[in-house]
Amino acid sequence: MRPSQLRNLGITRLLRATEGMGSNGPVPKANLLPVTGPQVKVLIIGAGNINFGSEEGPWNHSQRLERKLGTRLKVIGLVDPAVARAQAVLEAKSLTFAAPAYSSTEIYASVQAAVSGLSSEPPDVIILGSPPAFRGTTDASKGFDTEVQLSSGFPSSALFVEKPVSTGLVEEVRLVADLLETRKGNLVSVGYMLRYSAAVRKMKEIIKENELNVMMTSARYIMAYEASRKLAWWDKRIDGGPIVEQATHFCDLSRYFGGEVDLDSVMAHSLEWYEKPGHLSKIQVNELQIPEDERIPRFTSATWKYESGALGHLEHGVSLQGSDFNTELAVYADGYLLKLVDPYNRPTLYVRRPGSDSEEVHAFHDDDPFLSEMSSFIDMATTGKAEVPILSSYADAVRTYEMTWAIRWASEKTRRLRT
Ligand SMILES: NC(=O)c1ccc[n+]([C@@H]2O[C@H](COP(=O)([O-])OP(=O)(O)OC[C@H]3O[C@@H](n4cnc5c(N)ncnc54)[C@H](O)[C@@H]3O)[C@@H](O)[C@H]2O)c1
Repeated sequence: MRPSQLRNLGITRLLRATEGMGSNGPVPKANLLPVTGPQVKVLIIGAGNINFGSEEGPWNHSQRLERKLGTRLKVIGLVDPAVARAQAVLEAKSLTFAAPAYSSTEIYASVQAAVSGLSSEPPDVIILGSPPAFRGTTDASKGFDTEVQLSSGFPSSALFVEKPVSTGLVEEVRLVADLLETRKGNLVSVGYMLRYSAAVRKMKEIIKENELNVMMTSARYIMAYEASRKLAWWDKRIDGGPIVEQATHFCDLSRYFGGEVDLDSVMAHSLEWYEKPGHLSKIQVNELQIPEDERIPRFTSATWKYESGALGHLEHGVSLQGSDFNTELAVYADGYLLKLVDPYNRPTLYVRRPGSDSEEVHAFHDDDPFLSEMSSFIDMATTGKAEVPILSSYADAVRTYEMTWAIRWASEKTRRLRT
C-alpha cells in the first residue's frame, strides 16, 4: 500500500520511521565518518560545558571533534582564565581513548596569551566557547574583543563561535561582523546546530519541493528550570536573559523558515518574577543575590511580522521542573503544517499536507545535529567543501541576536510595574 493510500485511510501514523527520507530519497547527510589526512591543530577557548560536556544536555564539542577527526585531532591549546578547570578537563581526557589528541595541549589563561604562545604554530581551527559576555565586541580595553584578537593573531584559522554571539551592544556586534566580513581570511560558523538537524533539513526540503510560502511560524520553548544552577543565567546583566541566551535557538530557527524579521514590528509581553503567577517553588539559585531589575521573566510571549509579510510567534517559559524541556516549532503554509516536536531529545516531525486531514510522522531519533554541525565546519575548514554547507554565518547570527534583543526590549517596555 502506498503512503498516499495509507493517508487516505487516515492511518498515516503508520508512515513512521522513514527516518531522514525525503520524498525523493534521503536528506543529504553531513559526512560523519572520521576523515583521513594530516593532523588538524585545534585551539579550544573555554573549558566549560559546551566544549567538554555536562549533565544539562547533549552538547560537548570536544567529543564531536574526536569523533569527526579521530587520530588526526591535535588540540594544541586550551584557553580558560579558570586554569584549574582547564587542568581538570585535560586530566579527564588523559583517561580516555582520545588521550593522544590532548597529550601536548598547552593551557593559556587568556586569548591574548594563546595568540602570542601559538604565533609560530597557528591553529587550523578555533572553537570559541567562552561565555558570550567575554566576546562579540571591538572593545580592547577589557579584552572582550576576542574575535578581533583571534582574527588578527590567526588570520587564516577557521573560527567556530558559540551562540549567542555576545551579550554586548548590538552595534558592537555588528562591527565585529563587518570586520570578519572585510578581512575574509577566517571561515566562520556560528553554533545554531538545530539548522543542521535532519528534521529541520527535511522541513526545508518540503518547503522547497512544494514551492511553499511560509505564512506563519510559531515557536514554543518551555525550559525545565530545576536543573539550572548557574546564577549568571538568572541574571540579565550577565547572560542577557532567557530570550537572548536560550530562546535564541528558536528565534534563529524561526528566521531560518520565516526570513528576515521587521524588527520595528516586534511586540511582546512578559510574566515577571514579582507577579504572583511568576513565583517559582524549585529555583536552585538564591535570586536575592541578583538586583531586582536584573531578574529574569518567567514567561515571554512575542509576535512579529517578517519582511515577507508572514507572522512570527514565540512563547518562552521558565516553568517546568524535572529535566526535559518542552519545545516545538510549527511552520504554516497554504495547505501545509510542519510541526517539529522536541528537537533536542526525540525530534519528531508531523506533516499535514493538502488532500488529507491526518499527519505523517517522521522520527529522527538517532540524529546528532551537534555532530553534523561540527562535521560541516571541519570539512569546510580542511577541504573547502562539505556535503552540507555552513548554515549559520556570523552576520546572519547577528541578525538573530538583534531579534532577541528586540523581543527583550519590547517585553520590558510593556511589563506591568511592581506594586
Ligand atoms: N549550542 C548549544 O546548545 C549550547 C549549549 C550550552 C552552551 N552554549 C553556549 O556556549 C557558551 C559557553 O557556555 P558554557 O555552558 O560552556 O559555559 P560554562 O560557564 O560552563 O563555561 C565557560 C568557560 O569559559 C571560561 N571563560 C570565562 N571567560 C573566559 C575568557 N575570557 N576566555 C576563555 N574562557 C573564558 C569559564 O571559566 C568557563 O570555564 C555560551 O555562549 C552558551 O550559550 C551553547
